[in-house]
Formats: sequence, structure tokens, C-alpha cells
Amino acid sequence: MYQEQYSRYVSMVEEALESLLPQTADACPAKGHAIPAYLCETMRYSLLAGGKRVRPVLLLAACDMLGGDMEQAKTAAGALEMIHTYSLIHDDLPGMDDDDYRRGRLTNHKVYGVGHAILAGDGLLNYAYECLLKNALDHPQNMEGLVRAASVIAGRAGVGGMVAGQSLDLLSEHTEPDADRLSYIHTHKTADLLTAPLLAAGHIAGATKAEFEALEAFGMSLGIAFQIDDDLLDVEGDAAQLGKQTGMDAQRGKMTWPSLVGVERSREKSAQLWTQAEEALGVFGEKAWFLRAFAEGLRGRKK
Ligand code: IPE
Ligand code: IPE
Ligand code: MG
Ligand code: MG
Ligand code: MG
Repeated sequence: MYQEQYSRYVSMVEEALESLLPQTADACPAKGHAIPAYLCETMRYSLLAGGKRVRPVLLLAACDMLGGDMEQAKTAAGALEMIHTYSLIHDDLPGMDDDDYRRGRLTNHKVYGVGHAILAGDGLLNYAYECLLKNALDHPQNMEGLVRAASVIAGRAGVGGMVAGQSLDLLSEHTEPDADRLSYIHTHKTADLLTAPLLAAGHIAGATKAEFEALEAFGMSLGIAFQIDDDLLDVEGDAAQLGKQTGMDAQRGKMTWPSLVGVERSREKSAQLWTQAEEALGVFGEKAWFLRAFAEGLRGRKK
């Protein structure tokens, strides 16, 4: 039951991405919309490289649970995965984490060059908002919900959200680990972008205030646990399975949970947050069965 539903959501994400993304073959000035073929290929390279699709699956599952329109959710889910993928392409750049592998293949800048990796990210980011706004215009009956969904995604992805976390992440390299600062970094660079799909789903489906509060609490606990686990996987994970190199955080002097309190206490903190995430779903009762199982699947992940 869970596996079938999960596969259904992932297929919806892949379909959304395929149908939203410009095709390399369309990238021809004669069609009026001149997207250079090389730029198009660069964007597709990272976006279609797999990835766990955690954020779009959260959006689809939350919208489904709340009885929202799944066609509207599908476009929003695709757009959110574009924003996440842009954040990864830029995160890997030499001026940031300088990584060579991502999603089991060479990083974007290793293949297409730094300039085009920056542009692929810029392209995905802007294209995501084109899709979100078109989604609102295409569904006038839910225009307000879709604009609110786009707005919450913009806020959580932007200068007060993921970008803020990435800024502090860079500024904290080779500095003494500090709990408040690390909490700020994890909240913004990761948990904000994992909470955005839940809140966006709430807006698409017209959630109540109590439902929004539960979605926010679930997203924040899950998001911080997810980043602590990512920090742990960098220490003790398997690079082949992860599709990215390990040991890079220590090499770059990153402020991480293991650098603050060690591996054992990081595991305990993560376990506590996963439990809190599950508790936050209480208000939804049985309706949250998929989100509960999905969170359980992410807990203790190896990739
Ligand atoms: C990686 O995100 C960056 C973090 C916030 C830890 P994911 O682990 O979701 O990466 P993909 O999308 O599966 O590649
Ligand atoms: C990245 O955190 C969070 C983003 C906003 C992309 P990390 O830098 O730890 O992610 P990985 O380990 O490179 O995937
Ligand atoms: Mg980083
Ligand atoms: Mg990184
Ligand atoms: Mg990491």
C-alpha cells in the first residue's frame, strides 16, 4: 500500500518535471522562445539525475491528505524540485562547497563549467516561478490559494529562508561550533525548504489554522532531523550509495551537528526530532498515514 502510493507520487513528480521543462529540441530560436540548447541541457542534467524527490513528494502527499486538487499540486511540486535542484547546483560550486559529485554523477560545474552551472541554477529558479505563476493564472477558481503557495515557497527559499541559511553556513566555516548559530543554519538552509511544500499544499487545499500549525511543526522537526542525518552521513555514510563524496564537511571546516556534539549525541538529537515530527501529525489522525510512513522511511536513510 505504502510502496504503491510512494511510486505513484514519484511518477507524478517525474511526469511534472518532464512536461514542465523545456525540451532541448525546443531550444531553438526559430520557435520564438530562444533557450540555448546548451543551457537547456545543463538544467536537465541536474534536474533529471534522480534525487529522492523528498520535497515534491511531501507537497503531493500533504495536498492529497487535505483533499486538494492534485493537478495544481503537481505543477507546484515540479517547481519546488527545480528550486531545490538549483540550490544544490549552486551549493556545489567552487565558491561554495566545491563538490565534484552529486546525485551519483559529476556536479554540474564539472561538466558544463562554472558559468553555466550558475546559469543553470538561475534558469531553474526563474523557471520555477514562471511555472508557479502560470499555475495560478491557469486555475482562476483557486488563484488566491496558488498565489499564496507561490509566496510561501518564495519566502522559504529566499533571503529570509534557504539563502539566509546558506549565507550563515559559509560565514561559519572554520569557526567555533555554536548551538544557536547551527540551529539557525539548519532551520534556514534545510528545514525551510522542507516545510515550504507542506505549507504550499495547505494553501492549495485551503487548510485550517490548526492544520497549518501542525504542518509547520512537522516540517520543521523533519527538516532539522534531515539535515542532522545529512551531517551524520557525511561522517559515516557510503559515498557510492549517497551519490556524493563523504568527509567533505570536516575538510571544509563546516559547522555541523557532529562537530558541535559528536556523532553519538547527534544521533540522539535526530531520533528526538523524528519522534517530534511524528507527534506533530497527530491532529490529522489516520489521514496522515502516508506522511507518517514517509517520515519513517527517511529516518535512518542511507542516501
Ligand atoms: C541534499 O538534499 C541537501 C540537503 C538539504 C541535505 P537531498 O538529500 O534531498 O538531495 P536529493 O534531492 O535527494 O539529491
Ligand atoms: C545544503 O547542505 C543545503 C542546501 C541548501 C543545498 P549541504 O551542503 O550539507 O548539502 P550536501 O551535503 O552538499 O548535499
Ligand atoms: Mg552546503
Ligand atoms: Mg554541500
Ligand atoms: Mg551535507
